[in-house]
Amino acid sequence: MRFVIETADLTKKYGPLVAVDKLDLKVKTDTIHGFLGPNGAGKTTTIKMLIGLLKPDGGSVSVLGQELGWDKPDVRSRIGYMPELPKLPKHLKGRELIDIYGRMYGVTKEERKKQIPKLLDMVGLKERGIDLIITYSKGMKQRLGIAQALLNEPELVILDEPSLGLDPVGMVEVREIMHEIAKEGVTVFLSSHLLHEVEQVCTHVTIINKGVELASGTLKQISAKVKGPVTIEAEVDKLSKAVIKKVEKLSFVTGVSKDGKKLLVEVKTRDDVRSQISQAITAGGGIVISMDSKGKSLEDVFMDLLVKHKRKKRSQ
Ligand SMILES: Nc1ncnc2c1ncn2[C@@H]1O[C@H](COP(=O)(O)OP(=O)(O)O)[C@@H](O)[C@H]1O
Ligand SMILES: [Mg+2]
Repeated sequence: MRFVIETADLTKKYGPLVAVDKLDLKVKTDTIHGFLGPNGAGKTTTIKMLIGLLKPDGGSVSVLGQELGWDKPDVRSRIGYMPELPKLPKHLKGRELIDIYGRMYGVTKEERKKQIPKLLDMVGLKERGIDLIITYSKGMKQRLGIAQALLNEPELVILDEPSLGLDPVGMVEVREIMHEIAKEGVTVFLSSHLLHEVEQVCTHVTIINKGVELASGTLKQISAKVKGPVTIEAEVDKLSKAVIKKVEKLSFVTGVSKDGKKLLVEVKTRDDVRSQISQAITAGGGIVISMDSKGKSLEDVFMDLLVKHKRKKRSQ
């Protein structure tokens, strides 16, 4: 199976609003695929159609090689799903909740006994499974939601904004869990409005806005779509004219400017040229303190695509 998720012309309308507009989404096996878009882009609506919670108005959905229909519960049992901001019953203990979900999924008692401690450990709740959910932080609740989505040992796990409302520490924890899940050979499909998150965790990304797909591919392919030069920012001690001259001489450099202790180097290549720049700085008598590449981030592509999409809509 090449694609675990494949939609064609998938469409959903809420009255006059087209929330998902002829979406052709393709998610490859064994990837961490980010579904990126601002609030209201149509991510949750798409996900609900993927798992059969919402009926499309047009197009088709195939998940794990099967067309998803209301009469196909077997496919759904191979998918793990965490809804956006999962509402968990507060009066239950974490462990109890997972157990209840397990029974609902038809996981045997023996399997639950084996699986639950393993899952709680994986999401960092080993010690807290016996506590009431009401005592959990947002991050812990989110992680419990992820554990719940993994209980039926799915081949594909779909997480709707797993980092929503989390602080930076919580986000890092969730990110680590996603890597863990992928390591076990599970394909991860996650929606997010956070570029940074997608950039950190995903191998592939599909960008969506107002129900329309703007771009899809590997992170590298998407990043390569950025227009404009890449700037390398170097903090340099002993930054002199000699340093600037040496850097200017590099064949791929199109411009050099100074901003206090910082040297801003514009380059026309997308290769990693930091070591060459560093050598030139040293040759000019400077000392490199830090170096950072600006302009290659997903944020640039994202903003670029959104602005273009807005312009196109306006001119239609
Ligand atoms: N049940 C609903 N009824 C009417 N409009 C809805 C409903 N759910 C979502 N929408 C609208 O559909 C669009 C897409 O929403 P959603 O799929 O939740 O986006 P996202 O998850 O990317 O934030 C938004 O404009 C939203 O207001
Ligand atoms: Mg959403």
